[in-house]
Amino acid sequence: MGGDPLAIKLQDVRLKLGGRDVLRGITLDVPYGDSLGVIGPNGAGKTTLYRMIMGLGLPDSGVVEVLGHRMPDPRPRGRIGYMPQDEALYPDLTVRENLNFFGQVFGMDARRRRRRIDEILALVDLPDRADDRVRELSGGMRRRASLAVAILHEPDLVILDEPTVGVDPELRAAFWDYFLKMNSQGTTIIVSTHHLDEASRCSRVALLRYGEVLACEPAQALLARTGAPDVESAFLQLARRRA
Ligand SMILES: Nc1ncnc2c1ncn2[C@@H]1O[C@H](COP(=O)(O)OP(=O)(O)OP(=O)(O)O)[C@@H](O)[C@H]1O
Ligand SMILES: [Mg+2]
Repeated sequence: MGGDPLAIKLQDVRLKLGGRDVLRGITLDVPYGDSLGVIGPNGAGKTTLYRMIMGLGLPDSGVVEVLGHRMPDPRPRGRIGYMPQDEALYPDLTVRENLNFFGQVFGMDARRRRRRIDEILALVDLPDRADDRVRELSGGMRRRASLAVAILHEPDLVILDEPTVGVDPELRAAFWDYFLKMNSQGTTIIVSTHHLDEASRCSRVALLRYGEVLACEPAQALLARTGAPDVESAFLQLARRRA
């Protein structure tokens, strides 16, 4: 895991896009082994922040360090699993072909790919659809296939951008059980969701609004500090205070 005690270190990260302040000084540490639930309204800057963490863009100012590397840097990429908010699969390839392709990109040998692809197909409940083209799947099934690709190579750090959108309740619960199991086995996880009860299962929740972090702490601590009955009320209270 390297000598750095932090998986991610963000220091005063700022970015303007189209004349708009999208990230307004984000400072955030994510220690190895942490699970961070990110919540924030549409346009808060969640996806943009992940892009900076993935090295897919450069902030105007500030420091982004991931797995001990100052980003952008391609070196940590093989240790990161990223599930983007939008589909990033090849629609004309089957689910299995997509998994094989991305497995090769991540340097997995044929034996490891075979073992892991079967395991991951079972996890996302797609063994029966493995040989269907992605374009023939339902929206929820495509989300499941995206998740499979993101965690195929057993990354040390996993970033999931609203992984449970369009996924039915039963499978959503199964996803979350799996996220937290991966986390208990040492994987650092960042996951955004509009389901605040899901986010509260993480070791900390980060509340994002207008490109700022309003709070980042365990859900219990947030409730104790604000006196709010639930995370949603706490968020609204902090947002009002900042407005
Ligand atoms: N390429 C771009 N050019 C101009 N503005 C952009 C660009 N990308 C994002 N933005 C703006 O940055 C802000 C943050 O967008 P972002 O996608 O990061 O939000 P989000 O928190 O992920 O929202 P959602 O919950 O809807 O996914 C929005 O106002 C968006 O319009
Ligand atoms: Mg987004």
